[in-house]
Amino acid sequence: MASLSVSLPIYNKSHVPTRQTDHFHDLCVFPRNLSHIKQGSLRNLRIVTSSSQTEPLIESTDKLSDIPLLSCSEATEKLKQNRETHRGKQQFLAMYSSIFGGIVTDETAMVIPMDDHMVHRGHGVFDTAAIMDGYLYELDQHLDRIIRSSSMAKIVLPFDRETIRRILIQTVRASKCRKGSLRYWISAGPGDFQLSPSGCHQPALYAIVIEDQSLFDSKGIKVVTSSIPIKPPQFATMKSVNYLPNVLSKMEAEEKGAYAAIWLDTDGLVAEGPNMNVAFVTKEKELLMPNFDKILSGCTAKRVLALAEGLLRDGKLYGIRVDNVSVEEGKRADEMMLIGSGVLVRPVVQWDEQVIGDGKEGPISQTLLNYIIEDMKSGPSSVRVPVPY
Ligand SMILES: Cc1ncc(COP(=O)(O)O)c(C=O)c1O
Repeated sequence: MASLSVSLPIYNKSHVPTRQTDHFHDLCVFPRNLSHIKQGSLRNLRIVTSSSQTEPLIESTDKLSDIPLLSCSEATEKLKQNRETHRGKQQFLAMYSSIFGGIVTDETAMVIPMDDHMVHRGHGVFDTAAIMDGYLYELDQHLDRIIRSSSMAKIVLPFDRETIRRILIQTVRASKCRKGSLRYWISAGPGDFQLSPSGCHQPALYAIVIEDQSLFDSKGIKVVTSSIPIKPPQFATMKSVNYLPNVLSKMEAEEKGAYAAIWLDTDGLVAEGPNMNVAFVTKEKELLMPNFDKILSGCTAKRVLALAEGLLRDGKLYGIRVDNVSVEEGKRADEMMLIGSGVLVRPVVQWDEQVIGDGKEGPISQTLLNYIIEDMKSGPSSVRVPVPY
């Protein structure tokens, strides 16, 4: 490979790669047309050419000199200021990082390495668990799922299941959070900026505790059909960090004045929302949920299916079915709902132009929401893990 001598817009040239690698191409963009460069600034241009380079590489010292070179403590101070200036509604109470090998409670230190394969190649998986009244809700179910996702993403677990579980519980304990959520990631870990993870030394685990005192909303919402293509089943069934389609789908919904956009699968059947499952109550009083083979197996949806047995016993439902669901069947249902850890059970009153049922929040959706909240507060030990504060 031809060697390349470059002048890069950084001060410390000891880090400049001397060989032309694929990531080097990602980082450097050189102007092809020089006509936009002001006359005065040409004084400060240095042109460097290489044996393999047919175009000159341009460096304008005028443009570079206004970017400060920061020490580590100055950068940390900037991070702190940035956090304070852009403080959002959410408070991050504690973070675990296997890179630190410990837990931090100062938000400034809640960072992950730039060279983690999860950051620049999306090679990571994640999951959550709600914290309710000092208990972690469905921790084991979510843990099982992240382990499945990790295996599908070919990431070896950084620790065994029991150790990960212990770390997560201890992180919540350190946060002192009693209501909020725990989010955690398993990544291929830091190493280099190559496509292959072979340079990543060790998989990483990160976890963060987010306080959330808000109440669950039961107001009916509107959904639209997503025009963003659904992920193929191999990717939709794992909870990887590749949520760009999900983000674009949510943005599309918001642009149309809706809460969420519903994905249809490649056969045109109802699939799921961008971070929730969907369910219907048919005219025949059946709870109907799409099959999980091409979508994420929602922990909340699975729990709702189990709790809905109570409605069968009370005669308020005549059946519970997990099956193919056509759009037509969905749109003519008596009730439609979104189900997930973020929304719990949220009634849908309109899908595209179609009003669902009588256009009001349905009684089954409301009862299922109450069941889930009750389960979070006083369910069995299989779904509630106490945090030893
Ligand atoms: C794509 C997708 N489907 C469904 C769900 C619902 O899953 P859970 O109930 O486990 O939160 C989620 C949750 O994040 C999701 O991202």
